[in-house]
Amino acid sequence: MKRILSGIQPSGKLHIGNYFGMMKTMIDYMESSDLYVFIVDLHALTSVHDRDRLRQGTLEAAADFLALGLDPDRCTFWVQSDLPEVCELTWILSTITPMGLLERCHSYKDKTAKGLIASHGLFSYPVLMAADILLFQSEIVPVGKDQKQHLEVARDIAIKFNNTFGETFVVPEPAIDENLATVPGLDGQKMSKSYNNTIPIFVEDKPLRKIVMSVQTDSTPVEAPKNPDTCNLYTLLKLFMPPDRLAEIRSLYINGGAAYGHIKQELFELIRDYFAEARNRKKQLLADPGYIREVLTKGAEKARGKAIVTLDLVRDRVGLKY
Ligand code: ADP
Ligand code: TRP
Repeated sequence: MKRILSGIQPSGKLHIGNYFGMMKTMIDYMESSDLYVFIVDLHALTSVHDRDRLRQGTLEAAADFLALGLDPDRCTFWVQSDLPEVCELTWILSTITPMGLLERCHSYKDKTAKGLIASHGLFSYPVLMAADILLFQSEIVPVGKDQKQHLEVARDIAIKFNNTFGETFVVPEPAIDENLATVPGLDGQKMSKSYNNTIPIFVEDKPLRKIVMSVQTDSTPVEAPKNPDTCNLYTLLKLFMPPDRLAEIRSLYINGGAAYGHIKQELFELIRDYFAEARNRKKQLLADPGYIREVLTKGAEKARGKAIVTLDLVRDRVGLKY
C-alpha cells in the first residue's frame, strides 16, 4: 500500500476548490492507501496572528474533514503542531537547503505582494512543508497545482540530504489531477480565500444561493450560441452534474438556449444536495469539540509513532547522536 500524505491550512472557511483540489482526493484514497492527513496550523501562523481565529479554524477544519467522510480509524489524522518532531526536522533540513531554492519560490513573492508580512517563517514555509512530507516517508502527495513548486522543493531537499548523509528519505511524488487542477472562483480566477471569490462548502441555503447566483457570466443573449469550455459557470457545473444532464446543457450552450439564471439555480441545488449530509454532520461535530480534540489527540499519538522512527534515523545520520 502506498503511503499518501497531505495537509491543509486552517486559515479560512474551506471552499469547493479545497474540496475538489485536495480533500475529496484524500478521502477517496482512504480505501486503498496508508493515508496521512493533517491540519497545518504552524503554516497558518505565517498568515494568521489571531489566537481565536486560529483555534477555531483548526477545530473547524478537523470537523470539515470528519463531516465530509474522513474516518480517523482508517487513516492517521492529526494537527501539525501536536508533533514537535516536525520543527526539529525543519531546522535540520534548513541547514542543507540552498537559499536560491527558496528565493525561486513564487508563493513567497505572491503572498508578500498581497500584503502578508515578509517574515522569515513565510520565506522558509517550504522547508517546514518538506519536513511534513519527509518525516513520514511519504511516497505520494496530492495537492492542487499551486503547490507543485513546493513539492519540487521537498524533492530537492530529500535528494540533497540523501546525497550528503546517505540514503534516508523517500523522494516524494506529487499527485495532481489535471482535470481538477484548478477550480475557478466566482470571477473566473482560481478559487481562493485570498481572492474573496469562493463558494464555501458549509454555508446555509440562502447565502449559498446568493453566492451561486453571483457566478460571473458574460452578457450573451439566451438564444445565442456560447462556448461552454470558456465558461466559468459550466466548469463549476461539471464538478456536480450527472453526465447525461451535463450533455443536455452542453448542447444548449452550443446551439443556443442556455439561460444562465436557470443554470445557476440548478448549480445551487446540486451543491446544496451534494453537501447536505456533511453539513448536518458538521453541526453535530461542532456541538461536541471535546470529541474532535479526542480524535486529534489519538491521531497525533499514531503519527508520532512513525515520526520518531524517521527523526531518530536523521539524528543518527547527521551526527546528533553522540
Ligand atoms: P486558498 O487558495 O483558498 O488559500 P489553500 O492555498 O489553503 O487555499 O489550499 C489548500 C489546498 O486546496 C491545497 O492543496 C490547494 O492546492 C487546494 N486548492 C485551493 N484552491 C484550489 C482551487 N481553486 N482549485 C483546486 N485546488 C485548490
Ligand atoms: N502548503 C500547503 C497549502 O498551503 C499545505 C501543506 C503544508 C501541505 N504541509 C504540507 C500540503 C505537506 C501537502 C503536504 O496548501
